[in-house]
Amino acid sequence: MNDAEIVEKTIAFVKDRLKGAEGGHDCFHIQRVFRNTMLIARHEDVHILVVSLGALLHDIADAKFHGGDETIGPGVAAAFLKDIAVDDNIIAHVQKIIQYCSFKNSLDPKVTPFSSKELQVVRDADTLDAMGAIGIARAFNYGGFKNRKLHDPEVPPRLKMTKEDYKKGNGPTINHFYEKLLLLKDRMNTTTGKRLADQRHQFMLRFLEQFYSEWNGEEPHP
Ligand code: ADP
Ligand code: NI
Repeated sequence: MNDAEIVEKTIAFVKDRLKGAEGGHDCFHIQRVFRNTMLIARHEDVHILVVSLGALLHDIADAKFHGGDETIGPGVAAAFLKDIAVDDNIIAHVQKIIQYCSFKNSLDPKVTPFSSKELQVVRDADTLDAMGAIGIARAFNYGGFKNRKLHDPEVPPRLKMTKEDYKKGNGPTINHFYEKLLLLKDRMNTTTGKRLADQRHQFMLRFLEQFYSEWNGEEPHP
């Protein structure tokens, strides 16, 4: 099977597996991350099949929806890729990407650090999808899914979080901007990723300004 056929088979597999997934992690999230990956990869010297498969499979079994089990995703991906006879080295690299893509794993001091250019590209692409207009939409969608308040001025954001704190989080969705979304631009790895992140960051700041002026019944700043 050539690389294009492998990618095509993987797209079909992911579409099927993610049927019925929650809106922020559905196959359109995968499609956006795949597109962001291609956009960034154009400017980086990376193995295109590895980043393609990493992007497509990075959320194949999110631990959040599998009782916290973080080995399922890499396992499911490996079984599928083996089935279509993808090279073992490529499978191993894709598994690492799935394992290390997640924001919460990066908060875990017990996890052995791993890095590769390919991981950086997929991570940047995934991070971008948590920022900007899409990031805002996903945050409120996730908050609704968990039945959280939009905003509560009496509940301050928690600024120093461990991985456990992050998973337990129950605060209003506006707090998520201060706990995660506004921190993302400083976690980008690639030059193209940084440039795109800066623009999305500015957009989130403008959103928050408008949100508070509407919340307080004030005229928005021009
Ligand atoms: P990752 O997949 O990078 O580990 P998450 O699974 O924590 O990240 O988040 C996936 C999406 O859900 C992101 O867009 C994120 O901003 C959003 N999200 C996660 N936690 C919250 C929360 N407490 N409130 C609102 N949105 C959230
Ligand atoms: Ni993702």
